[in-house]
Amino acid sequence: MLRIGMLTSGGDCQALNAAMRGVVKTIYNNSKEDVEIFGFLAGYRGLIYSNFRMVTGKDFSGILTKGGTILGSSRTPFKTIEEPDENGLDKVEAMVHTYHKLNLDCLVVLGGNGTHKTANLLRTKGLNIVTLPKTIDNDLWGTDMTFGFQSAVDIATNVIDCIHTTADSHRRVFIVEVMGHKTGWLTLNAGMASGADIILIPEIPYDIKKIVKAIKRRQENGSGFTILAVAEGAISKEDAQLTKKEYKKKVEKRVHPTVSYELAKQIQDETGLEVRVTVPGHMQRGGSPCPYDRVFASRLGSEAGKLILKGEYGFMVGYKNREIVKVPLEEVAGKLKTVDPDATIVKEAKMLGICFGD
Ligand code: F6P
Repeated sequence: MLRIGMLTSGGDCQALNAAMRGVVKTIYNNSKEDVEIFGFLAGYRGLIYSNFRMVTGKDFSGILTKGGTILGSSRTPFKTIEEPDENGLDKVEAMVHTYHKLNLDCLVVLGGNGTHKTANLLRTKGLNIVTLPKTIDNDLWGTDMTFGFQSAVDIATNVIDCIHTTADSHRRVFIVEVMGHKTGWLTLNAGMASGADIILIPEIPYDIKKIVKAIKRRQENGSGFTILAVAEGAISKEDAQLTKKEYKKKVEKRVHPTVSYELAKQIQDETGLEVRVTVPGHMQRGGSPCPYDRVFASRLGSEAGKLILKGEYGFMVGYKNREIVKVPLEEVAGKLKTVDPDATIVKEAKMLGICFGD
C-alpha cells in the first residue's frame, strides 16, 4: 500500500488542482500497489491538527480547469512555525506526529516561498517530501517558471488592455497596480504584453522625475494618455536607500493605501494631468488556469508522481531551460528569484521605449 499525504499552502493560484490531478493520475495509472491519498485541509494547518479527508481518483476528475484548490489553503508563516500555537502545541512536532500516525510514505506539498521553507524543515525531521512550485509571483528559486504565473499574466494583461481604451478616450494617466509581492515578474510581463508605457518593478527603484519626464514627453508627442504598470512592491530610489526597518516604518505612516496612490498624487501634482488608479488585486489569482498552466501544472504533477513511484524524495519538481527537473529542497528554501535589472528582457523593453523610471 502506498500512502500519500497532500496539501496546498499559502496564497492560492490557478492550476493547483491541475497539478494535484497530474500527481494522482500518474500514481493511479502506474502504481503496482494500492494507493491511499490523505488530503490535508487548509494547508499545513490540516497537517498540524490532523484535519484531512480521504480522496480518491474521483475527487480529481473534472478539476483540470477549476481555479482555487479542492483542499483549501491558508497561510502558516514560516517565521512562527517553531513557536507553539495558542494552546501550547508544538506545530512542527504535531506535523511530524500526524505523518507517522497515518503511516504516510510521503507528503506532496504545493506552495510558494514560505511553504518551501517549512517543507524543507519537515524534510530535515525525516519526512519524505516532494513539492510543486505554485505562485502567481514566479519568485521561487530553482525554477524558471511557477504554475499560476502565466494565468495571472493573462488576467493582468486583460486589465491593462481594458484600461488602455478608456485612458485613450479620456486622455488620462492610468496606473494599474499589479501583484507580485517583492518581485516584478508579473508586472514586467503583463506590462510588456499590454504595451504599458511605464513599468515600475521593485528590482529597479524609480525616480519620480524620470516618470514625470516620460509622461510629459508623451504629451508633447501627441499621445494624450499614459499607462503605468506598477508592481505592488515598486519602490522609489530614496526609499530603496532605507533599511528594511526604516522602510517598514515609513510605509506604516503612508497616508496612501499603496505605492500606486502615492505615485498618482505625485504625478498629478507635477503634471496637472488627471490620474486614475486601478488595482485588480486578487482577481489575478482567480478563475480558470490558462491552457499553458493546465499543461505545465499537469507535467510538473506527473513528474512528481514519477518521483513518488521511484521513492525519490526531498525534491521540488521545477522547470529549467525548457526541461522539467528535480531540485533539492535545501537549494530552494529561503531564496527569492528576482528580476535581474540587466536581464535581456529588460534591455529589450527599454529598446522598445518603455520607461522603468531609472
Ligand atoms: O503570493 C501571491 C500573492 O498574491 C502576492 O502577489 C500578494 O502580495 C499576496 O499573495 C497577497 O496575499 P493575501 O492573499 O494574503 O492577501
